[in-house]
Amino acid sequence: MVFEVKNICCIGAGYVGGPSMAVIAKNCPDIQINVVDINIERIERWNDKNLKNLPIYEPGLEEIVKKCRGKNLHFSKNVNLNIANADMIFISVNTPTKTKGLGAGFASDLKWIEKSAREISKYAKGKTIIVEKSTLPVKTASTIKKILYSTSENSSDKNEKTFYILSNPEFLAEGSAIKDLDNPDRVLIGGEDEEAIKALSNLYIKWIDKEKILTTNLWSSELSKLISNAFLAQRISSINSVSAICEATGADIKEVSMAIGSDKRIGKFFLNAGPGFGGSCFKKDILNLIYICKHYGLDKVADYWEQVININSWQISRITQIIVEKLFGTVSGKRLVILGFSFKANTNDTRESPAIYICQKLMIEGGNLIIYDPKVDYSQIENDLNKKMASIEEIDHSEGEWYKSKNIYNAVQDADAVILLTEWDQFINLDWERISNSMRKPSWIFDTRYLLDPRIISSININYWRIGYGDKRGI
Ligand code: NAD
Ligand code: UDX
Repeated sequence: MVFEVKNICCIGAGYVGGPSMAVIAKNCPDIQINVVDINIERIERWNDKNLKNLPIYEPGLEEIVKKCRGKNLHFSKNVNLNIANADMIFISVNTPTKTKGLGAGFASDLKWIEKSAREISKYAKGKTIIVEKSTLPVKTASTIKKILYSTSENSSDKNEKTFYILSNPEFLAEGSAIKDLDNPDRVLIGGEDEEAIKALSNLYIKWIDKEKILTTNLWSSELSKLISNAFLAQRISSINSVSAICEATGADIKEVSMAIGSDKRIGKFFLNAGPGFGGSCFKKDILNLIYICKHYGLDKVADYWEQVININSWQISRITQIIVEKLFGTVSGKRLVILGFSFKANTNDTRESPAIYICQKLMIEGGNLIIYDPKVDYSQIENDLNKKMASIEEIDHSEGEWYKSKNIYNAVQDADAVILLTEWDQFINLDWERISNSMRKPSWIFDTRYLLDPRIISSININYWRIGYGDKRGI
């Protein structure tokens, strides 16, 4: 049968649901799109008149919401009604790592997927295409199918419900989500029903070249998403492991990245050493992959991928250790300025940010932190650090406290160290001489992103350590 998609419902108004539906709305003005969520506050913020209050910060998102909201893009808490009206439903709910029960610490928690499937089963009408947008363990589509049909058996109009399940994983990266959605490397659609696949492809071809739309079977599509993230994370752990060799030997990680990345077979992207990968996806998806490998008895494969996570944790703690050692073995009562708290630049997302772990460890050591981030709210930092913000007066007379500052030049007054954790562009062109002049001597910059220009910093009276280089050359 031929599908005509006129009304889309997206379950989950998060970092994926919001931006991805905004871009579909922009490119498909004839389709009505309702993004629904059980998080009422989130929906209210999506509907806020002041676009600065949107729940997600992504460059370019505000403009699209301004253009489409209230026309063909709607944000609603009415999940059931919008499911009932939809002929295509995207599931974009969270799938975090299970914290308890079977598979705790590794498997993905699919309770939100199951809840969505039960709601769809109950409220959907007629023929509905269900699109898995969330990242899911391979074979989840068969679980969703079972739930959809077994639950709808009890429904009065069960004979009128037919579901077509597709896997269409999302590859956007935060901070560049709109760019990635506007111009993706590929769109992956896995499924069994040709017409359903065609209906989803027809949406994307409104703005994406046909050649970029790849179709596979369901399991290849589900698995490819996990593997893509595992490969990307593996490159970061590889380059981070090399950063430590560079610091020990006198090589420079930027030069090594450039040299190896010029080989087309290796490629130049994703070779930036840093404080370890963060974000809601990499760790969770590799843990899930490890769980799947073990389930199939592939223990050696599981061990292989586990190393990617081990190196990441090691990188985070090795950086913290270097900071403490350089500051004469103690940071107790010292003022340390943290530049950047989000897990990468151009997002307000802090999930799994290396900054969380580094800040917590430095506070345990007694360090007083002044944190600056252009987009992360102090209440988010309180949640992440599990500690209330102190007043600036308390900072000067205690140990192991933190305070969020809006002004970097005030923050660095009498500070012992500036620790650069997120690669926000605005940090590059700070007046580093002025900063150095207001710090307590001997003062340090720890550049965990290799962001600053070493030539500028070397002309200033300050100690400078950077990732994949160190601070002194023993050649
Ligand atoms: P998120 O936590 O930002 O958003 C998920 C939203 O779903 C939440 O607002 C939650 O309240 C809502 N939700 C949960 N159950 C619901 C239900 N039954 N009905 C209505 N709403 C419900 O998560 P996210 O970052 O958008 O990620 C969503 C999925 O996409 C995950 O599987 C993730 O792995 C995957 N993914 C994320 C990214 C990313 O960069 N964040 C990229 C690609 C894929
Ligand atoms: C990732 C994938 O890139 C994306 O395709 C997928 O859909 C979701 O997961 P995201 O986590 O949003 O996206 O951002 P990404 O740019 O991949 O960065 C992840 C982490 O790796 C960040 O902490 C970033 O700082 C770090 N990173 C990235 C490096 O340390 N070095 C690099 O070269 C690239």
